[in-house]
Amino acid sequence: MLELKKAAESEVEQARNPEDLDRIFNRYLGKEGLVVRILRSLKDMEPLQRVEIGKSANEFNVALRDLIYKKNQELKKHSKRAQKKIDITRPRRKVQFGHIHPLSQTFRRVEEIFQGMGFTVVEGTELETEYYNFDALNIPYDHPARDKWDTFWIKVPNPEKQKLLLRTHTSPMQARFLEKHNPPIRIIVPGRVFRHEATDASHEFDLCQIEGLMVGDDISVANFKVVISEFLKRFLNKDIKIRLRPSFFSFTEPSFEIDFSCVACKGKGCGVCKQSGWVELMGAGMVHPNVFKAAGLNPNDCQGFAFGIGADRLAMLKYGIKDIRHFRSGDMRFLSQF
Ligand code: FA5
Repeated sequence: MLELKKAAESEVEQARNPEDLDRIFNRYLGKEGLVVRILRSLKDMEPLQRVEIGKSANEFNVALRDLIYKKNQELKKHSKRAQKKIDITRPRRKVQFGHIHPLSQTFRRVEEIFQGMGFTVVEGTELETEYYNFDALNIPYDHPARDKWDTFWIKVPNPEKQKLLLRTHTSPMQARFLEKHNPPIRIIVPGRVFRHEATDASHEFDLCQIEGLMVGDDISVANFKVVISEFLKRFLNKDIKIRLRPSFFSFTEPSFEIDFSCVACKGKGCGVCKQSGWVELMGAGMVHPNVFKAAGLNPNDCQGFAFGIGADRLAMLKYGIKDIRHFRSGDMRFLSQF
């Protein structure tokens, strides 16, 4: 039995593939294998010899099965490794390049243009206090203008002390910056804002804006018109029809809005522009004296303009995108075009 065991072990050791192992299994453990033959011959043996040989034949049976199993695993591992070998003649995989998101591209270009006009880029916080989002901007608690910005309020332990919200516009940075800096001021504030409203082809609830603020001792609407038309000319690099119309914001006086001719229907009227032929691009106006006062500045000593551009709408205009929801869709067919 010992010799049989040694012979089997050496055969398993030398096996090079699963077929070798199959042959070894059949020779020793198969239906007509050596072990089966030994077991069959037990009935003709002396009782003592029968016990001894029977026991070692069974042990041999178990040990050899185990050995064959292990060797088989080892051979499988080797063959996987062999398959993994690098074939240097294979053509390389197509390289997929990443893309800068069209909104990031828009922000980058906007920042570049405004910096070229002497503006500094400033960042604000997305989580804002009720005071800076509304009160410091001349929007008191009971003012109807608060309804305009449906708000995502944040649960806080002491809401009576200070209420927190996701900023509904980038304008709070006007108040924050004016509190800490003296004119002359020339800043833009790009960033995300949030509004609790239904989405459609031109509305998102998570959108981007670019706030602008220019304050000095003699800044007028004429300065605003020059800055914004120069910006639009450089950014769009093409002729786009825009219109300026009077509007209302409680933190600017006078206030106006700028619309662009709808890119989806070319001004004819469609679902994107709600049949009007125009899409609103930005709100703007001359900073309200109460905003200067709330920031600790004397409105008689300074004046300036502010604007809030819808960055998604700006990108729609630039790239001719007909639905704002494409930006956050994660759809590679859309994104890979930029
Ligand atoms: C404001 O948010 C004011 N803070 C803008 C402002 C700044 C006025 C400074 C005066 C001085 P309004 O809600 O209109 O205003 O939004 C400004 C721009 O953001 C809009 O003209 C539009 O282009 C964009 N916008 C507003 N709501 C959405 C929305 N749900 N989805 C996509 N873009 C939007």
